[in-house]
Amino acid sequence: HEKQDLVGKRVLVTAGPTQEALDPVRYITNHSSGKMGFAVARRAALRGAQVTLVAGPVALPTPQGVCRVDVRSALEMFEEVKARMEEADIVVKTAAVGDFRPETTARDKIKKAGEDTMEVRLVKNPDILRYVGEHKRPGQIVCGFSMETRDLLENSAKKLNAKNADMIVANSLSEAGAGFGVDTNIVTLLTKEGAERLPLMEKEELADVILDRLLAL
Ligand code: C5P
Repeated sequence: HEKQDLVGKRVLVTAGPTQEALDPVRYITNHSSGKMGFAVARRAALRGAQVTLVAGPVALPTPQGVCRVDVRSALEMFEEVKARMEEADIVVKTAAVGDFRPETTARDKIKKAGEDTMEVRLVKNPDILRYVGEHKRPGQIVCGFSMETRDLLENSAKKLNAKNADMIVANSLSEAGAGFGVDTNIVTLLTKEGAERLPLMEKEELADVILDRLLAL
C-alpha cells in the first residue's frame, strides 16, 4: 500500500564506508554503517523506483528489488558511479567515501620488524559527488550528505555550491540520536531555497522525506 510516486524514476544510491588498503590484510576506513543509504534505497524501491545501490563493505541485507553493486575502495566506487550515473534521474550520495588512500598498497603483508615508527603517505581520492555534480545533465537531481563536528551548516552550504548538488543532507555528529550506526538521525536539508531542520527521525522515515524533497525539486 505504498504510494507509487517514483514509478519510472531511476535512482542511484551510494552507501557505506570505503576501505583503502595498506596491504593484503589492513585498510583505512570510517564508522559508516550504511544504514542511511540502505534506507534510501529501500524506500525508493518500495515507492516504485528502479534502484541501483553501490555499497561499500557493510553488514546489511540487500533491500528487496534493489540492484546492488558491492565495492571496497573509493576508486572502485568512482568507477561504478561513473558507469551508472548517466542512466539515473536521481543520484543520492550517502556513502562516507575515504578522502585519502595509501599511495601504494603493499603486495605482501607489511612486517613490523625494525623501526618503532612507520610512515604512510596518503594521496587524495577523487571526489565522486563533485564529479557527478560537474557532469549532471539537465533535469538530473543530485543529493549529497555532509557530516561535520563543527560549523555544520556553513560547511554544508559550501558543499552545495562547490559540488553543484541540488540538496545536501547535513548530519550533526555532536547530537544524541544522530550519526553512525544508530537507526535514527537528526538532519538539516539544504537547498538553494534555504535550510529545513528536521526533528529526530528513524532513518527509514527520513529517507522518505529526502525522497519527497528530491521529487519536488
Ligand atoms: O566534502 P565531504 O566529504 O564532506 O562531502 C560529503 C559528500 O561528498 C557525501 O555525499 C559523500 O558521499 C561525497 N564524497 C564523495 N567522494 C569523496 C568524498 C565525499 O562522493 N571523495
